[in-house]
Amino acid sequence: MSSSTAADSTARLPALPSDVDETFLSDVLAGLRAPRKAIPPKYFYDLEGSKLFDAICELDEYYVTRTELGIMQEHAAAMAASIPGKVRVVEPGAGSSTKARLLIDALGERCVEFVPVDISGEHLQMAAEAIREELPDVTVTPMVGDFTAELPSPASGDGAMTLVYFPGSTVGNFHRHEAQTLLWRLRRLAGRDGMVLLGVDLKKDPTVLHAAYNDAKGVTAAFNKNLLVRINRELDGDFDLDAFVHYAFYDPTAGRIEMHLVSRRAQRVHVAGHAIEMGAGESILTECSYKHDLPGIARLGQGAGLAVRKTWTDPDSAFAVVLFSADATAPGDEPRAHTLRAVTNR
Ligand code: AVI
Repeated sequence: MSSSTAADSTARLPALPSDVDETFLSDVLAGLRAPRKAIPPKYFYDLEGSKLFDAICELDEYYVTRTELGIMQEHAAAMAASIPGKVRVVEPGAGSSTKARLLIDALGERCVEFVPVDISGEHLQMAAEAIREELPDVTVTPMVGDFTAELPSPASGDGAMTLVYFPGSTVGNFHRHEAQTLLWRLRRLAGRDGMVLLGVDLKKDPTVLHAAYNDAKGVTAAFNKNLLVRINRELDGDFDLDAFVHYAFYDPTAGRIEMHLVSRRAQRVHVAGHAIEMGAGESILTECSYKHDLPGIARLGQGAGLAVRKTWTDPDSAFAVVLFSADATAPGDEPRAHTLRAVTNR
């Protein structure tokens, strides 16, 4: 019988491709080794995933984007009127800033600066150029930052108050305690005199919700499965896409959509040389998307030192845009910070 030495066991470790992102790898391995398998949804958004998400936003069934845009088109002037004085608009996770532009336009000369914050510097510069062209009178100061980590503070001292704009119902992709931590961060970014404008998807007929995450063209299914495509490419995985099914449903008790990739059969998959066993019907939870109601949003804000000032919704009350002010009586920092994984496991 041979005994293995430390050197032996190291030698048996699978070789990592040199360009592997180690955080992505460790998150994926930890998620696939958990009793209930899960992968953080932030990994959806490689180039192909971002394109698929843009395509989701155009779908008939995915009411979210056009409904929020409609609210901004209809009410941007009223929003601007509810925000006093000179304003610096900061948008974490900015993307193309289509909705922010409506708000900035409505603020007119009172908007002294727009600070789009995005994780991808390249994407940010391109978006900033487009905004500069469209709004030549506004100073655009792009900042690289990750809202799931710490956010950079924009310059102040010019008498302008900071309005943090966080549209898209991204807050819905966080569990309650994480959403609370996120809102604390937005409040801290806004400062004691600042405001937060938040886009939130609302609870509604579950058949509408079900259709939004199970579209007829299969774009959401492709978006979900692209996570496996990405793992195969970047982490030397061997997922067989046909062996998994996109499975999304609304849980009215938890008030959330859950998105899964369910294994059609018992199988062994590999990621960077590590074997993972999957049972027939076993799932990988890839995303939760919480739907809120207005009292719940007010409570969420209150727990983060934010008080509701005004709310705008569409005629069907499918989506809400909520204006909060920092509650001066609340403590300046969150009582207990949670790591923001924008994820999956309860
Ligand atoms: C980005 N986020 C708000 C979307 C949502 O609806 O939760 C992501 C998404 N997942 C499937 N479709 C859209």
